[in-house]
Amino acid sequence: MNICVIGAGYVGLTTGAVLADFGHHVICVEVEPNKLAILRQGRTPIHEPGLDDLVRQTTRSGHLAFTDELAEGVAVSEVVFIAVGTPSRADGSADLSAVWQVTDQIAQTLSHYTVIVVKSTVPVGITDAISDRIATGLRGREQEIPREDVVTDGGVESIFDVVSCPEFLREGKALMDLVHPHRIVVGSTSDRAEKLLRKLFAPIDAPLLVTDPRSAEMIKYASNAFLAAKISFINEIANLCEHVEADVSAVAQGMGLDDRIGPKFLQAGVGFGGSCFPKDTRALLRTAEQLGYDFAILRAVIEVNERQRLRVIEKLEELLGSQSLRGRRIALLGLAFKPETDDIREAPSLAVARCLLRRGAEVVGYDPQAATRFAEVVPGVKIATEIREALEGADALVLLTECKEFAELDLAEVRGWMRTPVIVDGRNVFDPLHALDAGFHYRGFGRPVVMEEA
Ligand code: UDX
Repeated sequence: MNICVIGAGYVGLTTGAVLADFGHHVICVEVEPNKLAILRQGRTPIHEPGLDDLVRQTTRSGHLAFTDELAEGVAVSEVVFIAVGTPSRADGSADLSAVWQVTDQIAQTLSHYTVIVVKSTVPVGITDAISDRIATGLRGREQEIPREDVVTDGGVESIFDVVSCPEFLREGKALMDLVHPHRIVVGSTSDRAEKLLRKLFAPIDAPLLVTDPRSAEMIKYASNAFLAAKISFINEIANLCEHVEADVSAVAQGMGLDDRIGPKFLQAGVGFGGSCFPKDTRALLRTAEQLGYDFAILRAVIEVNERQRLRVIEKLEELLGSQSLRGRRIALLGLAFKPETDDIREAPSLAVARCLLRRGAEVVGYDPQAATRFAEVVPGVKIATEIREALEGADALVLLTECKEFAELDLAEVRGWMRTPVIVDGRNVFDPLHALDAGFHYRGFGRPVVMEEA
């Protein structure tokens, strides 16, 4: 098939590259000149395992191409994916300006039957609204539409269908999630569109659920909100564990053995970040507020997550003395919102670093991938290019992402580099007893405090 993907961001680029690899002809539309230049050189502007190679291969084989001209892609395609960003506005709602812009351009261009697939995460009802807006646009240029493409007795509306097809990609595992997803959701009331998408997704071995567009849109928000709730829930349990000297890892393991609960997304720590959970929980809450509905659980999920990051500061104050963090050198290990990515969007490290800087601490950060991006966003933080450089002379080691190389650190050696033996382990990576043996005062999240025998 000929496919157009609008927006070569995280979702668009991975989706386009995988469909090109399936043998389709994919044209990706990207209007940001820097991104487009990088892509045209056969490189990728984001760090995602396997993506560089896939983009290079499919570009070379002629299955994947890039343009900044939406009309060029839409004119030749049977399926058009909308994969532009829907960032948070100041009030938490989703900013749909890119979606509307693209919608209007599609309406100005369509001239043959096309299925428009909404991959961008949009509030419930927006897929239908996109459809209405395209129909209105087409009615304004009825004369230009070839009659043979108007397939039913209906009007120009019959030359397109808009379908909601939410993505559930995890950063760092996006290619794997595209080829082996848990499910494909197709929100459509059109048999013709459904048939085409079933054909397109045929190589993917996963259940395909067909719903109405509004339910499909809600599935995306509900799934992210539920996963975020699992994390905030276990973080609340962790906080309580600290009061009763229980171990949240054991609690999570015991809970997870019940397959109605499951073991995943029960890792306590500094909370969730990234491009999806914070933004999508806020947008869903805003939708509820606008409808006059008090979504109490979701409000708490967000609140707990924001509070959780700052527990790092409480723990530092507890260990370094409550007077002040002023002048203390604090080493942050892990700046990305999770390992194996250079993405720092809404990463817990941002809130922690900013708070430490406000308190007058000297903050030095290390991350295997995300350091450069972090330095641009929080210029007050010194960036170390090696772990040792970050830790030398430090008063505390604060671990914020569970990168493999941090887990492999020899804590006795690390102790020798630091000025004060303090670890705040935001992801429960280190063994508290090892830390104690190496001479550290250690605090994890939801773990009993191990102390030297008096
Ligand atoms: C997530 C969803 O998993 C994906 O389905 C959706 O489409 C986009 O958002 P992603 O943002 O890549 O994917 O990250 P994910 O691996 O889900 O982790 C999100 C955040 O939760 C990270 O900051 C991670 O550290 C945190 N997390 C995850 C926990 O704190 N505890 C856990 O048990 C799991």
